Amino acid sequence: MRRIPEPEYMDIEEEAAAYAAADFDAVNAAFVHAVLEFSGTRAAPRVLDLGSGPGDIPQQICQMRPNWRVVGVDASRAMLRCAMRRKSEYKKTAWLRYVQCDAKKLPFPAHCFDIVISNSILHHIADVHNFWLEIRRVTKSQGALFLRDLARPSDEKEAARLVQEYSGKESPLLQEEFYRSLLAAYTPDEVQRQLHDADLPEAQVLQVTDRHLDVRCILP
Ligand SMILES: C[S@@+](CC[C@H](N)C(=O)[O-])C[C@H]1O[C@@H](n2cnc3c(N)ncnc32)[C@H](O)[C@@H]1O
Repeated sequence: MRRIPEPEYMDIEEEAAAYAAADFDAVNAAFVHAVLEFSGTRAAPRVLDLGSGPGDIPQQICQMRPNWRVVGVDASRAMLRCAMRRKSEYKKTAWLRYVQCDAKKLPFPAHCFDIVISNSILHHIADVHNFWLEIRRVTKSQGALFLRDLARPSDEKEAARLVQEYSGKESPLLQEEFYRSLLAAYTPDEVQRQLHDADLPEAQVLQVTDRHLDVRCILP
């Protein structure tokens, strides 16, 4: 099935609020667990979460690893407002910062993060080459990359089935968003080519569920 792009930033208030209110507890917990396992033991690492959205993932990481210094970035002011509200509910978040910026043009020096993570941003991005180049630029040698995103299904019928199975109880707006996101997602082969073109040949692309792919890499 041909990819149908969707808008990059989720900066409509209603859309951000619906996303922040949705129940992603199980998928977010699985993502955080996988990040912690893949990254291994590191002393006070600097962590970058690209497209941090409403902030549930960086918040969970800070609760579980209070010595990790986490920066969440998102281009959407509406999403960052949700993330800041969530942060203020947790009094003991040790080291969590948010920055509004485009993930394809990061305001950070080269090689300054030990771990770069992202959940569900790649399918939003049209200019994937600059996205991957920025990731490579800001990550330290021996740094860990762990990105998870949707994998584009074979056809629209399968996309509709996935929406029904995994978001059948969510609002119509959220179901519509999930459907559009599945159609905008890249396939594992497309992502592998993107990584090769961005000089990240050591990165592995794995289809990990019927709707998710992972990119995992320890930089040389
Ligand atoms: C589907 S949400 C995922 C949010 C969060 N990672 C999560 O899993 O809950 C995608 C987020 O990526 C952000 N985003 C999309 N393109 C971006 C870009 N080029 N730069 C920064 N943020 C971007 C959107 O604004 C949105 O908040």
